Amino acid sequence: MSKPATFDFSPAYDEFLQAFPQYVETAAIDKLRAEEYQRLDEQQHVYLDYTGGGLYPANLVRWHAELLQDLLLGNPHSQNPTSLASTRLVAQARADVLDYFNADPEEYLVIFTQNASGALKLLGESYPFNDNAQFLLVADNHNSVHGIREFARSRGAEITYIPLDPVSLRAPDPLQYFEQGRQASPRLFAFPAQSNYSGVQHPLEWVEQAQAHGYHVLLDAAAFVPTNRLDLRAIHPDFVPISFYKIFGYPTGIGALLARRQALQQLQRPWFAGGTVQLVSTKADLHILARDHEAFEEGTVNYLGLPALSYGFQFIRRVGIETVHQRVVILLEYLLSKMQALRHSNGAPLLQIYGPTDIVKRGGSIACNVLDPDGVLVPYQQVEDEANAANISIRSGCFCNPGAGEYSLTHTGEEISRCVELATSYEFDVDAFRRCLGDKATGAVRVSLGLVSNFEDVTRFLGFLAQFADRPAASYTGARGCS
Ligand SMILES: Cc1ncc(COP(=O)(O)O)c(C=O)c1O
Repeated sequence: MSKPATFDFSPAYDEFLQAFPQYVETAAIDKLRAEEYQRLDEQQHVYLDYTGGGLYPANLVRWHAELLQDLLLGNPHSQNPTSLASTRLVAQARADVLDYFNADPEEYLVIFTQNASGALKLLGESYPFNDNAQFLLVADNHNSVHGIREFARSRGAEITYIPLDPVSLRAPDPLQYFEQGRQASPRLFAFPAQSNYSGVQHPLEWVEQAQAHGYHVLLDAAAFVPTNRLDLRAIHPDFVPISFYKIFGYPTGIGALLARRQALQQLQRPWFAGGTVQLVSTKADLHILARDHEAFEEGTVNYLGLPALSYGFQFIRRVGIETVHQRVVILLEYLLSKMQALRHSNGAPLLQIYGPTDIVKRGGSIACNVLDPDGVLVPYQQVEDEANAANISIRSGCFCNPGAGEYSLTHTGEEISRCVELATSYEFDVDAFRRCLGDKATGAVRVSLGLVSNFEDVTRFLGFLAQFADRPAASYTGARGCS
């Protein structure tokens, strides 16, 4: 008779500390958690969706509210005292962003946007794609990067995808693609510093290699910067989109495009708006764009929210991004090894993990599906529903990363086209699409570690997963399609 699947994580802390003695070096995070995130432990919540959004420290919100209560802040772009006060704070926030990423102000500009997607759209619509241009991108990108292909396509540019290895979810050396693209001009190459699906960290050396082959480089750093240092004096990507709520949780609605001045000069604005022009004439039918970031910041910037960034960076500096990184790497290694070891009593693995199962060149998010003892997939929606009931925040679906989804879940292009056709009689029916894919998963479960993750979070999540041991896959049918 086979041994029943039993999991006892309670004595694990000593064992964990023995394996990872460096964990104690990250104790500053426990202090920060106790001071700023009491609500997390008071509500006994396990937050594992940091790639979705960071959690805000209580004092960041308090300090920001006090600033707003104390000052008189008016719309910038004017010389009156309230306007000037806002202008100063916005300039400070801009300088703090450059400083945090160690960017040389002579080389980089900060363009404030609504979020990383806003930064990407700004680039897509302004990049001078033409019928001799190329947009080269790895399949492992967020939808907001894939969306740029529609700007490229509408102007006749060639769109080239670099595929992924279906097991490691890493991309091959892009050198041959750089060489093949030699004739195109201009050339834009896009990749994420960290995949928001698998956590894979694609090599940052690609930035310089691509530039040496005449490419502008779009480095999507949205999922990377919350737990890794990005040093813009060590690498010099032309365009870097980010969202600040992913780093310190607050405020939402503010992102940025960090852009090299040199590359920015080649962008062409498809329109103008309030704040982006020096002169507009209705009678002479002309406009003269503003310079630098001003040509790209449309309308009124979020001048009340932007001062919160300066506080946000102070928080991260207090604990240190290296400390955050160290903790995430330790917890990731522990979590990954324990997840891989989870078994049903018949010895079958409890989980299918997508992407690398070691910690080399990967960040703190893990995508997986739960399997039943016969290897049948447990619908990811069911796993999320049960996590919700256990007060655990995870995420399920395809996380706006269709490329990593398709490679890891083994969907072929033909299959997707056939199923889309089949599922679209009048309008697209996502359930019919999913049924058409048969036994294949249409999404996964993602857990992501971040700023104040701790051993208890990881242990409670492992305990939660263990409850799926020996359970046959239920006939749950409500799983959503990849998006
Ligand atoms: C890698 C990556 N790029 C871009 C985005 C888009 O960010 P936002 O939704 O803040 O625009 C995300 C969001 O999760 C992401 O993970």
